[in-house]
Amino acid sequence: MKIGIDKIGFYAPHIYVDMEKLAEARNIEPAKFTIGIGQSQMAVAPITQDSVTLAANAALEIIDDEDREKIDFVIFGSESGIDHSKSGAVYVHQLLGLQPQARAVEVKQACYGATAGIQMAKGHIALNPESKVLVLGSDIARYGLNTAGESTQGAGAVAMIISANPRIMELENHNVYLTNDIMDFWRPIYSDKAFVDGKFSNEQYILFFNKVWEAFKSKSGLNLSDMEAICYHLPYTKMGLKALRTVIDEAPEEVRERLLENYQISTQYNRNVGNIYTGSLYLSLLSLLENKEDLKEGVRIGMFSYGSGAVGEFFTGVLQPNYREHLHIESHQRIFDTRKEVTIEEYEAIFEETLPRDGADIELNIEQDPASIVLSGTVDNKRQYVNKNS
Ligand code: HMG
Repeated sequence: MKIGIDKIGFYAPHIYVDMEKLAEARNIEPAKFTIGIGQSQMAVAPITQDSVTLAANAALEIIDDEDREKIDFVIFGSESGIDHSKSGAVYVHQLLGLQPQARAVEVKQACYGATAGIQMAKGHIALNPESKVLVLGSDIARYGLNTAGESTQGAGAVAMIISANPRIMELENHNVYLTNDIMDFWRPIYSDKAFVDGKFSNEQYILFFNKVWEAFKSKSGLNLSDMEAICYHLPYTKMGLKALRTVIDEAPEEVRERLLENYQISTQYNRNVGNIYTGSLYLSLLSLLENKEDLKEGVRIGMFSYGSGAVGEFFTGVLQPNYREHLHIESHQRIFDTRKEVTIEEYEAIFEETLPRDGADIELNIEQDPASIVLSGTVDNKRQYVNKNS
């Protein structure tokens, strides 16, 4: 039985910062951000968006009534969860109006959470072929103003339905995964900003990629020539390229050219959104599928997932017949076309604006946020969510 991605949707907040202007404000050569890091725009989350609303908005555009009846497992991958106990999945389940006989859990391992969710979903579908699983990868990446990590922030979510006989991508089973306890990036529970050893994290990302790639080749018997493209977890778009360059010489000239060209296409969305942590790899996949018009059905795509701390995984998927008909290219284009740029001063003010930490109630102005699903405030220490369309 084929199991894989049946639908894939994406959401990013309606405001962004221009990276050249951020560089100027920080007295940095703009080319460092646009070329050295490889980012052009950075999505900024207004206070009315959190990991729950981003995920629910990403899922809203892809689910229909049949999905609402068949989804019996919601897996919410995130490292910016809103509660230490209750999972984001339960809120999303309610906001989307899914049938009640479902499991709903949150999965955390830095940027690896959604990949863990997908692999769990595959097992669930193998046992329950009629079911569908909703896997969410939703995050707001925060390092702090004027930090080295600032240029690698972002916000957004990817939602995927995993099912039998998937219409977009069959996920193959030669997965190779690796865990090692390292401190390259972490966020203690008292902090709303990540701590990071930037250079070490870059090195570990590449080391993990090299290890899982070597093991993948032995396990699967496949090599670079068998891949039409490789999508990477993209904390910034230069990062995957650094990893790809370490193995590219294994391939003949024409394969090298193809992988490098497809790599650029797979980074287009991420370049204009920033790091969305656990959704980043799947945003890269979406970027490739939606922006490369002549990508043929039947081709194999390699996927490298990395979550600091750290867990890495390499796996592959095969594009299904007529997969393009099941993408939501226009609505994703609309997200980019209708976004508004904010000034650096506005971005800084939005960055500093947080919900009360003393239990006080707050009512937020939801009119300024065009998203369908928004956070409208807190009452009695409970976040209040609104679906403007219901
Ligand atoms: P930095 O110190 O600001 O930058 O840190 P740099 O000095 O290393 O320069 C970056 C690049 O810009 C270099 O290119 C420079 O040469 C180039 P490279 O040598 O790397 O190819 N450069 C220029 N290029 C053109 N024109 C110029 C110019 N000047 C310099 N004028 C760093 C950069 C990414 C480390 C920092 O932003 C950071 O700490 N970010 C956060 C950590 C991160 O993203 N790590 C990535 C791997 S870990 C990961 O992916 C997991 C993660 O997503 C978390 C999770 O799992 O949840 C982060």
